[in-house]
Amino acid sequence: MAKKTINDFAQMVEKGEKIVYLTAYDYLTAKMQEKAGVDMILVGDSLGMVCLGYDTTFPVTMDDMVRHCQAVRRGAPNTFIVGDMPYMSYQKSDEDAVANAGRLVKEALVDCIKLEGGGEMIASRVKAIQQAGILVMGHIGLTPQFMGQIGGYKAQGRSAAAAMKIVDQAKVIEEAGAFSILVEGVPTAVGKAITERAGIPILGIGAGSYTHGQLLIYADMVGMYDNFTPKFVKKYANVGEVLTNAFKEYTEEVRQGQFPVDDEHTYKMSDEEVKEFLVALEK
Ligand code: KIV
Repeated sequence: MAKKTINDFAQMVEKGEKIVYLTAYDYLTAKMQEKAGVDMILVGDSLGMVCLGYDTTFPVTMDDMVRHCQAVRRGAPNTFIVGDMPYMSYQKSDEDAVANAGRLVKEALVDCIKLEGGGEMIASRVKAIQQAGILVMGHIGLTPQFMGQIGGYKAQGRSAAAAMKIVDQAKVIEEAGAFSILVEGVPTAVGKAITERAGIPILGIGAGSYTHGQLLIYADMVGMYDNFTPKFVKKYANVGEVLTNAFKEYTEEVRQGQFPVDDEHTYKMSDEEVKEFLVALEK
């Protein structure tokens, strides 16, 4: 399958076909997702929690993002890849934001970058980055990089006034030139209102069923990340349990001397060479 472009996504929206979006952080997972036919992969800064073991996304660096985007690109050469802008890679200035977005494109060949937030400052960054020729996906609603200001990792837009604010943010980001917006952690009515008013693809994660596409963090939906599971996650597998059981069985077999079995799991040497080898050892 050829890699999808913004024209394909526009057509999917037009035809009412849902856009399938998942996170990935490494070569192997990206390869499986491309094989499964997902439309879009996000190398999210959630890699800080899912892969690097931090409690939040704040410590993730540009170098972390570049390295993981490169691995995902190698695993999924024919899939549209979105690279996340980590904390403080775009907050300081438009120039900084363009330079860091440019790194993700130039060094990791991502197709688009994503940044969080919905105010005037973010609109200015979106404008600057898209003027540099880079596709931008906005991210509003539950925005973990603004955790302190939004009152923690919890659903947003649950009052009429808060919901209106998020709808307005979507407009501002679209007008600034974003190619698409990801809406996270809001009631269905808010996801629906944003989608109905948008002229660009709206992707949702925990934003109900009306958005043009759906995103999940892959480690949540396959049951690998169990530190915390948001309400909007559906578990499609229990890979964490499968892997833990395999590791346990291996541990047991090595301790019991049941693995490896020499005729099955080791390299052969002719009887003649073994004989000669044993003689040489004795010399
Ligand atoms: O980093 C990430 O994976 C994200 C999603 C949680 C939306 O931004």
